[in-house]
Amino acid sequence: MAQVHTNKSFKSLFSVTLMAAALGLTACSTSTGSNPDVQARQDTMKNWGDAMGVMGDMAKAPDTFDTDVFKEQAAFLAEDAAKPWSHFEDPEAVGNATEAVWSNADGFSAEAENFQKVTAELNAAAQNATSMDDVKPAFGQVGASCKSCHTDFRAKDE
Ligand code: HEC
Repeated sequence: MAQVHTNKSFKSLFSVTLMAAALGLTACSTSTGSNPDVQARQDTMKNWGDAMGVMGDMAKAPDTFDTDVFKEQAAFLAEDAAKPWSHFEDPEAVGNATEAVWSNADGFSAEAENFQKVTAELNAAAQNATSMDDVKPAFGQVGASCKSCHTDFRAKDE
C-alpha cells in the first residue's frame, strides 16, 4: 500500500525544517541574520511550526486527540496568521526568503491571504470537534498552505 499518513510527512518536514533552521543559525553569518524584520517573521514561523507539530502528533495518533489542546493551537494559528507579512516589505531584508517575495508580490500576497483563510477555517472546525476526523481536512489544508508558499517563496535548505 502507498504511504497514507500524509500528516506524518508534514510532521517530518517540519522537524527537518526546524533542524535546518537551527543549523542555519550557526552556519550562516550573513548580515541579514540580525535584521529585526527577518528575526520577527522567522520567530513567528517557528511558533507556527511548533503548533503544527502539536496538531500533527494528534493526526498521527488520533486516539490522543485532545479537543482543548487542538482548539488552542488552531486559535493561535488563526490569530497569528496576519502577523508576519508586514515584515516582508523591505527587499533588503532577504533572510531565507526567495526574491520572488518581491518580484512576485501578488503571488506572495495570495499565499498569505489563503493562509489566513485556511487557518480561520481550521479554527472554526476545531470549535465543535470531538475527534481528529472533524478537523483532519481543514488541518490538511493548512499544511498544504505552508508547503505551497514555501515552494516558491522560501529558499531551499542546502
Ligand atoms: C505566505 C507564505 C508562507 C506561509 C503561508 C508560511 N510560510 Fe513559513 N516561511 C515563509 C518564508 C518566506 C520563510 C523564510 C523567512 C525568512 O527566512 O526570512 C519561511 C520560513 C519558515 C520557517 C523557518 C523559520 C526560521 O527560523 O528560519 C519555518 C519553521 C516555517 N516557515 C514554518 C511555517 C509553517 C509551519 C507554516 C504553516 C503553518 C508556514 N511556515 C506558512 C513563507 C511562508
